[in-house]
Amino acid sequence: MTRVVYVNGRYLPYGDANVHVEDRGFQFADAIYEVMEVAGCRLVDATRHLDRLQRSLTELAMPAPMSRAAMLHIIAEVVRRNRVSDGQVYMQISRGGSPRDFTFSGKQLVPTFVCLARPISRSIRDARADKGIGVITMPDIRWGRCDIKTVMLLPAVLAKEQALAEGADEAWLVDGNGFITEGASSNAWIVNGAGHLQTRSLTSALLPGVTRLTAIDVAATIGLKVELEPFTVPEAYAACEAFATSASGTVMPIVKIDGNIVGSGIPGPQAQALREAFHRVAEHMPIH
Ligand code: PDD
Repeated sequence: MTRVVYVNGRYLPYGDANVHVEDRGFQFADAIYEVMEVAGCRLVDATRHLDRLQRSLTELAMPAPMSRAAMLHIIAEVVRRNRVSDGQVYMQISRGGSPRDFTFSGKQLVPTFVCLARPISRSIRDARADKGIGVITMPDIRWGRCDIKTVMLLPAVLAKEQALAEGADEAWLVDGNGFITEGASSNAWIVNGAGHLQTRSLTSALLPGVTRLTAIDVAATIGLKVELEPFTVPEAYAACEAFATSASGTVMPIVKIDGNIVGSGIPGPQAQALREAFHRVAEHMPIH
């Protein structure tokens, strides 16, 4: 449960936390966000998440609402006030609010900054990973700058809703050439016939996942090979293993794709090894 939310300079009770009706995040999805894991009262991969947040701002010519140190102070305060030891932090920055107008230059916009945190039980997440999840595939109908973490998430909302309707947990999005770009809210991986981890290399078609990057580091520490190559839906069906990476699930084994059993139908050894080693390798920033 979230008790306290930071909104534009104030820590407010959850029920009283509001932004203006003409906020550009609300009207135009002119906003960016980050989701960060909290594990054992520490921020997981905070440096990489804040680097990506800065990149999203820069790509959209959006000013930062405050310094990185000030942001980290607020994140820590929100985590503390919500008594989160394991869970996640959500932060969103919009370009601000003003009478509705598509353009933004020349306006005195003050960015909106919202930060909230909620506890999530580790055992519930681990139980999901122990079983493995199912995914469905569908066309990727998103825009051309999926490398920017914007709140323009309607295609992901619809994809996840369809996955839920079909009894799956995540949707893998397929580009016009038949290659999987990524999941609706995670990066997509397989273990291929050569026994190598395979995930698509970074382009504007997919989010540069922080967990993906750390998983590449983790793989190196435990002697697993990574190939940065896209893969097709038939290649995913035929894979030895499949898994997803995201801040909310870390390394999540996938046991079913479009109803087809992956490998032996249980979480694979490489995905499990990556998951097990993940928190040993990821940055854990103490909350002061
Ligand atoms: N989702 N791809 C997409 C489209 C995402 O939305 C996410 C993250 C990822 C994984 O990125 P990272 O490893 O940095 O979390 C990949 C977050 C968790 C969310 O929207 O809740």
